[in-house]
Amino acid sequence: MSATVSLQQLTDQLEALETEAAAEIAAAADADALEQLRVSLLGKKGRLSGVLGAMGKLPGNERPLVGQRANVLKTQVQALLSERLQAVKSAALDARLARETLDVTAAASGVPMGHRHPLITTTEEIVDLFCGLGYRMVEGPEVETDHYNFTALNIPPDHPARDMQDTFYLKDNLLLRTHTSPVQIRQLEQTPPPVRIVAPGRVYRRDAVDATHSPVFHQVEVLAIDEGLDFSHLRGTVMAFLKAFFGDLPVRFRASYFPFTEPSAEVDVQWRGRWLEVMGCGMVDPAVLEGLGLDPERFSGFAAGLGVERFCMVRHGIDDIRRLYTSDLRFLEQF
Ligand code: DAH
Repeated sequence: MSATVSLQQLTDQLEALETEAAAEIAAAADADALEQLRVSLLGKKGRLSGVLGAMGKLPGNERPLVGQRANVLKTQVQALLSERLQAVKSAALDARLARETLDVTAAASGVPMGHRHPLITTTEEIVDLFCGLGYRMVEGPEVETDHYNFTALNIPPDHPARDMQDTFYLKDNLLLRTHTSPVQIRQLEQTPPPVRIVAPGRVYRRDAVDATHSPVFHQVEVLAIDEGLDFSHLRGTVMAFLKAFFGDLPVRFRASYFPFTEPSAEVDVQWRGRWLEVMGCGMVDPAVLEGLGLDPERFSGFAAGLGVERFCMVRHGIDDIRRLYTSDLRFLEQF
Protein backbone atom coordinates (compact mmCIF):
# COMPACT_ATOMS: atom_id res chain seq x y z
CA MET A 1 0.00 0.00 0.00
CA SER A 2 1.07 3.58 -0.60
CA ALA A 3 2.48 5.80 2.11
CA THR A 4 0.62 5.48 5.32
CA VAL A 5 -0.72 8.35 7.32
CA SER A 6 -0.83 8.50 11.05
CA LEU A 7 -3.45 10.08 13.26
CA GLN A 8 -0.77 12.34 14.64
CA GLN A 9 0.19 13.63 11.20
CA LEU A 10 -3.38 14.52 10.30
CA THR A 11 -3.97 16.18 13.62
CA ASP A 12 -0.78 18.21 13.15
CA GLN A 13 -1.87 19.24 9.68
CA LEU A 14 -5.25 20.40 11.01
CA GLU A 15 -3.45 22.29 13.75
CA ALA A 16 -1.20 24.00 11.20
CA LEU A 17 -4.12 24.81 8.93
CA GLU A 18 -5.93 26.45 11.80
CA THR A 19 -2.93 28.65 12.59
CA GLU A 20 -2.48 29.62 8.93
CA ALA A 21 -6.18 30.32 8.54
CA ALA A 22 -6.23 32.59 11.57
CA ALA A 23 -3.26 34.59 10.24
CA GLU A 24 -4.62 34.88 6.70
CA ILE A 25 -8.09 35.91 7.90
CA ALA A 26 -6.60 38.56 10.15
CA ALA A 27 -4.67 39.93 7.19
CA ALA A 28 -7.61 40.01 4.72
CA ALA A 29 -8.26 43.58 3.71
CA ASP A 30 -11.84 43.45 2.47
CA ALA A 31 -14.96 41.37 1.90
CA ASP A 32 -13.72 40.06 -1.46
CA ALA A 33 -10.48 38.78 0.03
CA LEU A 34 -12.46 37.08 2.82
CA GLU A 35 -14.74 35.35 0.35
CA GLN A 36 -11.71 34.04 -1.56
CA LEU A 37 -10.25 32.76 1.70
CA ARG A 38 -13.49 31.03 2.63
CA VAL A 39 -13.47 29.16 -0.65
CA SER A 40 -9.80 28.29 -0.40
CA LEU A 41 -10.11 27.04 3.20
CA LEU A 42 -13.55 25.43 3.43
CA GLY A 43 -14.67 25.00 -0.17
CA LYS A 44 -15.14 21.59 -1.82
CA LYS A 45 -11.63 21.68 -3.26
CA GLY A 46 -10.28 23.70 -0.38
CA ARG A 47 -7.43 23.02 1.98
CA LEU A 48 -9.56 21.42 4.70
CA SER A 49 -10.96 18.94 2.17
CA GLY A 50 -7.37 18.27 1.11
CA VAL A 51 -6.42 17.19 4.62
CA LEU A 52 -9.56 15.14 5.13
CA GLY A 53 -8.97 13.33 1.82
CA ALA A 54 -6.23 11.37 3.55
CA MET A 55 -8.52 10.36 6.40
CA GLY A 56 -9.60 7.20 4.54
CA LYS A 57 -6.12 5.82 5.08
CA LEU A 58 -6.53 5.77 8.86
CA PRO A 59 -7.84 2.80 10.73
CA GLY A 60 -11.62 3.04 11.11
CA ASN A 61 -11.58 3.72 14.85
CA GLU A 62 -9.31 6.78 14.44
CA ARG A 63 -11.35 8.48 11.74
CA PRO A 64 -14.00 9.98 14.04
CA LEU A 65 -11.25 11.68 16.06
CA VAL A 66 -10.00 13.45 12.97
CA GLY A 67 -13.59 14.20 11.92
CA GLN A 68 -14.34 15.84 15.24
CA ARG A 69 -11.17 17.87 15.13
CA ALA A 70 -12.01 18.97 11.58
CA ASN A 71 -15.49 20.09 12.65
CA VAL A 72 -14.04 22.18 15.45
CA LEU A 73 -11.65 23.77 12.97
CA LYS A 74 -14.44 24.48 10.51
CA THR A 75 -16.60 26.17 13.14
CA GLN A 76 -13.63 28.14 14.35
CA VAL A 77 -12.70 29.34 10.83
CA GLN A 78 -16.31 30.32 10.09
CA ALA A 79 -16.43 32.38 13.27
CA LEU A 80 -13.15 34.11 12.41
CA LEU A 81 -14.35 34.84 8.88
CA SER A 82 -17.60 36.45 9.98
CA GLU A 83 -15.92 38.42 12.75
CA ARG A 84 -13.35 39.74 10.29
CA LEU A 85 -16.08 40.54 7.76
CA GLN A 86 -17.85 42.73 10.33
CA ALA A 87 -14.57 44.44 11.12
CA VAL A 88 -13.65 45.26 7.49
CA LYS A 89 -17.19 46.48 6.78
CA SER A 90 -17.22 48.85 9.70
CA ALA A 91 -13.71 50.04 8.85
CA ALA A 92 -14.90 50.77 5.29
CA LEU A 93 -17.87 52.71 6.66
CA ASP A 94 -15.66 54.71 9.01
CA ALA A 95 -13.33 55.52 6.14
CA ARG A 96 -16.23 56.67 3.97
CA LEU A 97 -17.67 58.86 6.71
CA ALA A 98 -14.26 60.40 7.32
CA ARG A 99 -13.88 61.10 3.59
CA GLU A 100 -17.33 62.68 3.33
CA THR A 101 -17.02 64.97 6.29
CA LEU A 102 -18.12 68.52 5.41
CA ASP A 103 -16.05 71.40 6.61
CA VAL A 104 -18.77 73.80 7.56
CA THR A 105 -16.20 76.48 8.28
CA ALA A 106 -14.79 76.40 4.71
CA ALA A 107 -15.16 79.65 2.74
CA ALA A 108 -18.18 79.64 0.33
CA SER A 109 -17.29 79.47 -3.32
CA GLY A 110 -19.63 82.36 -4.26
CA VAL A 111 -22.52 80.86 -6.24
CA PRO A 112 -23.70 83.56 -8.69
CA MET A 113 -27.30 84.52 -7.93
CA GLY A 114 -29.84 85.87 -10.39
CA HIS A 115 -32.19 88.66 -9.43
CA ARG A 116 -35.33 90.29 -10.68
CA HIS A 117 -35.36 92.47 -13.77
CA PRO A 118 -35.76 96.22 -13.15
CA LEU A 119 -39.02 96.23 -15.16
CA ILE A 120 -40.45 93.63 -12.79
CA THR A 121 -39.39 95.48 -9.65
CA THR A 122 -40.77 98.73 -11.08
CA THR A 123 -44.11 97.06 -11.88
CA GLU A 124 -44.26 95.61 -8.39
CA GLU A 125 -43.53 98.94 -6.82
CA ILE A 126 -46.31 100.65 -8.81
CA VAL A 127 -48.79 97.88 -7.99
CA ASP A 128 -47.81 97.94 -4.31
CA LEU A 129 -48.39 101.68 -4.06
CA PHE A 130 -51.90 101.37 -5.48
CA CYS A 131 -52.63 98.36 -3.27
CA GLY A 132 -51.67 100.60 -0.36
CA LEU A 133 -54.40 102.99 -1.53
CA GLY A 134 -56.97 100.17 -1.40
CA TYR A 135 -56.73 98.88 -4.98
CA ARG A 136 -56.81 95.16 -5.83
CA MET A 137 -54.47 93.65 -8.39
CA VAL A 138 -56.06 91.82 -11.35
CA GLU A 139 -54.80 90.62 -14.71
CA GLY A 140 -56.25 90.12 -18.16
CA PRO A 141 -55.32 88.15 -21.29
CA GLU A 142 -52.66 89.35 -23.74
CA VAL A 143 -54.59 87.85 -26.66
CA GLU A 144 -57.77 89.92 -26.81
CA THR A 145 -60.84 90.30 -28.97
CA ASP A 146 -61.51 93.41 -31.00
CA HIS A 147 -64.49 93.98 -28.72
CA TYR A 148 -62.54 94.29 -25.45
CA ASN A 149 -59.52 96.07 -26.93
CA PHE A 150 -61.51 98.62 -28.91
CA THR A 151 -65.30 98.56 -29.27
CA ALA A 152 -66.21 98.30 -25.58
CA LEU A 153 -63.76 101.15 -24.91
CA ASN A 154 -65.79 103.42 -27.17
CA ILE A 155 -63.53 102.86 -30.17
CA PRO A 156 -65.90 101.65 -32.96
CA PRO A 157 -64.50 99.91 -36.08
CA ASP A 158 -63.89 103.00 -38.23
CA HIS A 159 -62.72 105.23 -35.38
CA PRO A 160 -59.47 107.07 -36.17
CA ALA A 161 -58.15 106.26 -32.70
CA ARG A 162 -57.50 102.71 -33.95
CA ASP A 163 -54.69 104.14 -36.06
CA MET A 164 -53.03 105.60 -32.96
CA GLN A 165 -52.33 102.07 -31.86
CA ASP A 166 -50.96 100.04 -34.72
CA THR A 167 -52.22 96.58 -33.97
CA PHE A 168 -50.86 93.05 -34.40
CA TYR A 169 -53.90 91.15 -35.68
CA LEU A 170 -54.21 87.39 -35.24
CA LYS A 171 -56.85 85.26 -36.96
CA ASP A 172 -60.52 84.93 -35.92
CA ASN A 173 -60.92 88.56 -34.87
CA LEU A 174 -58.25 88.14 -32.21
CA LEU A 175 -55.36 90.52 -31.66
CA LEU A 176 -52.50 91.20 -29.26
CA ARG A 177 -53.83 93.79 -26.85
CA THR A 178 -52.47 97.26 -27.60
CA HIS A 179 -53.06 98.47 -24.04
CA THR A 180 -54.18 97.20 -20.64
CA SER A 181 -57.46 99.16 -20.83
CA PRO A 182 -59.52 96.08 -21.86
CA VAL A 183 -58.99 94.82 -18.29
CA GLN A 184 -61.30 97.69 -17.21
CA ILE A 185 -64.14 96.19 -19.23
CA ARG A 186 -63.49 92.60 -18.17
CA GLN A 187 -63.41 93.68 -14.53
CA LEU A 188 -66.58 95.75 -14.64
CA GLU A 189 -68.39 92.86 -16.33
CA GLN A 190 -67.45 90.64 -13.40
CA THR A 191 -67.78 92.96 -10.41
CA PRO A 192 -70.36 95.68 -9.82
CA PRO A 193 -69.08 99.02 -8.44
CA PRO A 194 -67.50 100.05 -6.18
CA VAL A 195 -64.42 98.83 -8.08
CA ARG A 196 -60.79 99.76 -7.49
CA ILE A 197 -58.30 97.72 -9.48
CA VAL A 198 -54.71 97.92 -10.64
CA ALA A 199 -53.82 95.72 -13.62
CA PRO A 200 -50.20 95.29 -14.79
CA GLY A 201 -49.29 93.58 -18.03
CA ARG A 202 -47.53 93.30 -21.35
CA VAL A 203 -48.91 95.14 -24.40
CA TYR A 204 -48.03 95.05 -28.11
CA ARG A 205 -47.84 97.59 -30.93
CA ARG A 206 -46.40 97.54 -34.41
CA ASP A 207 -43.75 100.11 -33.56
CA ALA A 208 -40.22 100.13 -34.93
CA VAL A 209 -37.59 99.79 -32.22
CA ASP A 210 -35.74 102.95 -31.24
CA ALA A 211 -34.51 104.55 -28.02
CA THR A 212 -38.06 105.13 -26.75
CA HIS A 213 -40.16 102.53 -28.62
CA SER A 214 -40.48 98.79 -28.50
CA PRO A 215 -43.14 96.53 -30.07
CA VAL A 216 -43.63 94.90 -26.66
CA PHE A 217 -43.84 97.04 -23.57
CA HIS A 218 -45.56 97.17 -20.20
CA GLN A 219 -48.44 99.13 -18.76
CA VAL A 220 -50.28 99.32 -15.49
CA GLU A 221 -53.98 100.10 -15.75
CA VAL A 222 -55.78 101.79 -12.88
CA LEU A 223 -59.57 101.99 -12.53
CA ALA A 224 -61.85 103.35 -9.82
CA ILE A 225 -65.63 103.37 -10.22
CA ASP A 226 -67.98 104.40 -7.44
CA GLU A 227 -70.72 106.90 -6.68
CA GLY A 228 -69.61 110.52 -6.56
CA LEU A 229 -66.08 110.31 -7.97
CA ASP A 230 -64.88 113.39 -9.87
CA PHE A 231 -61.71 114.80 -11.40
CA SER A 232 -60.38 115.94 -8.03
CA HIS A 233 -60.24 112.29 -6.92
CA LEU A 234 -58.31 111.42 -10.07
CA ARG A 235 -55.88 114.25 -9.60
CA GLY A 236 -55.40 113.59 -5.89
CA THR A 237 -54.77 109.88 -6.48
CA VAL A 238 -52.29 110.50 -9.30
CA MET A 239 -50.42 113.17 -7.33
CA ALA A 240 -50.22 110.97 -4.21
CA PHE A 241 -48.94 108.09 -6.28
CA LEU A 242 -46.35 110.15 -8.20
CA LYS A 243 -45.04 111.70 -5.01
CA ALA A 244 -44.68 108.27 -3.42
CA PHE A 245 -42.87 106.92 -6.49
CA PHE A 246 -40.70 109.84 -7.61
CA GLY A 247 -40.50 112.05 -4.57
CA ASP A 248 -40.74 115.71 -5.46
CA LEU A 249 -40.31 115.75 -9.25
CA PRO A 250 -42.42 118.53 -10.88
CA VAL A 251 -45.70 117.18 -12.35
CA ARG A 252 -48.08 118.64 -14.90
CA PHE A 253 -51.46 117.59 -16.28
CA ARG A 254 -52.01 118.29 -19.99
CA ALA A 255 -55.45 118.16 -21.59
CA SER A 256 -55.61 115.28 -24.04
CA TYR A 257 -57.99 112.94 -25.77
CA PHE A 258 -58.82 109.26 -25.30
CA PRO A 259 -62.07 107.74 -26.63
CA PHE A 260 -62.80 106.00 -23.31
CA THR A 261 -62.30 109.00 -21.01
CA GLU A 262 -63.85 112.46 -20.90
CA PRO A 263 -62.23 114.71 -19.92
CA SER A 264 -58.81 113.18 -20.59
CA ALA A 265 -55.31 114.20 -19.61
CA GLU A 266 -51.74 113.19 -20.04
CA VAL A 267 -49.39 113.48 -17.08
CA ASP A 268 -45.76 114.54 -17.46
CA VAL A 269 -42.94 114.61 -14.94
CA GLN A 270 -39.94 116.87 -15.32
CA TRP A 271 -36.76 114.86 -15.60
CA ARG A 272 -33.31 116.02 -16.68
CA GLY A 273 -34.79 119.36 -17.71
CA ARG A 274 -37.45 117.86 -20.00
CA TRP A 275 -41.12 117.02 -19.60
CA LEU A 276 -41.60 113.28 -19.95
CA GLU A 277 -45.05 111.74 -20.39
CA VAL A 278 -45.64 108.89 -17.94
CA MET A 279 -49.37 108.20 -18.12
CA GLY A 280 -52.72 108.89 -19.76
CA CYS A 281 -55.81 109.28 -17.61
CA GLY A 282 -59.28 110.69 -17.40
CA MET A 283 -62.84 110.32 -16.17
CA VAL A 284 -64.37 107.14 -17.58
CA ASP A 285 -66.60 108.12 -20.53
CA PRO A 286 -70.34 107.64 -19.76
CA ALA A 287 -70.63 105.72 -23.05
CA VAL A 288 -68.28 103.04 -21.66
CA LEU A 289 -70.35 102.71 -18.48
CA GLU A 290 -73.61 102.54 -20.46
CA GLY A 291 -72.17 99.82 -22.66
CA LEU A 292 -71.70 97.78 -19.50
CA GLY A 293 -75.26 98.43 -18.29
CA LEU A 294 -74.13 100.83 -15.57
CA ASP A 295 -76.09 104.04 -15.00
CA PRO A 296 -73.70 107.00 -15.60
CA GLU A 297 -76.05 109.23 -13.56
CA ARG A 298 -75.28 107.10 -10.54
CA PHE A 299 -71.75 105.83 -11.14
CA SER A 300 -68.64 107.67 -12.20
CA GLY A 301 -64.94 107.07 -11.95
CA PHE A 302 -61.49 107.52 -13.34
CA ALA A 303 -58.91 105.47 -15.14
CA ALA A 304 -55.24 105.74 -15.92
CA GLY A 305 -52.71 103.86 -18.02
CA LEU A 306 -49.08 104.03 -16.87
CA GLY A 307 -46.08 103.28 -19.04
CA VAL A 308 -43.87 101.03 -16.89
CA GLU A 309 -40.76 101.53 -19.05
CA ARG A 310 -40.91 105.29 -18.48
CA PHE A 311 -41.17 104.87 -14.72
CA CYS A 312 -38.30 102.42 -14.77
CA MET A 313 -36.08 104.64 -16.93
CA VAL A 314 -36.62 107.73 -14.79
CA ARG A 315 -36.16 105.78 -11.58
CA HIS A 316 -32.83 104.29 -12.71
CA GLY A 317 -31.57 107.00 -15.04
CA ILE A 318 -31.72 104.74 -18.12
CA ASP A 319 -31.73 106.67 -21.39
CA ASP A 320 -32.42 103.94 -23.95
CA ILE A 321 -35.39 101.56 -23.70
CA ARG A 322 -33.50 98.91 -25.67
CA ARG A 323 -31.21 98.31 -22.71
CA LEU A 324 -34.20 96.87 -20.86
CA TYR A 325 -34.69 94.12 -23.45
CA THR A 326 -31.23 93.07 -24.56
CA SER A 327 -30.39 90.91 -21.53
CA ASP A 328 -26.87 92.29 -21.26
CA LEU A 329 -25.75 91.08 -17.84
CA ARG A 330 -23.20 93.88 -17.47
CA PHE A 331 -26.18 96.25 -17.60
CA LEU A 332 -28.68 94.18 -15.62
CA GLU A 333 -26.28 93.40 -12.79
CA GLN A 334 -26.41 97.04 -11.76
CA PHE A 335 -29.95 96.74 -10.41
N1 DAH B 1 -54.82 102.99 -22.95
C1 DAH B 1 -54.12 104.23 -23.22
C2 DAH B 1 -52.93 103.99 -24.12
O1 DAH B 1 -52.41 102.90 -24.10
C3 DAH B 1 -53.65 104.86 -21.95
C4 DAH B 1 -54.76 105.33 -21.11
C5 DAH B 1 -55.24 106.62 -21.21
C6 DAH B 1 -55.34 104.50 -20.21
C7 DAH B 1 -56.26 107.08 -20.47
C8 DAH B 1 -56.39 104.94 -19.40
C9 DAH B 1 -56.83 106.25 -19.54
O2 DAH B 1 -56.98 104.17 -18.51
O3 DAH B 1 -57.86 106.69 -18.77
O4 DAH B 1 -52.51 104.86 -24.80
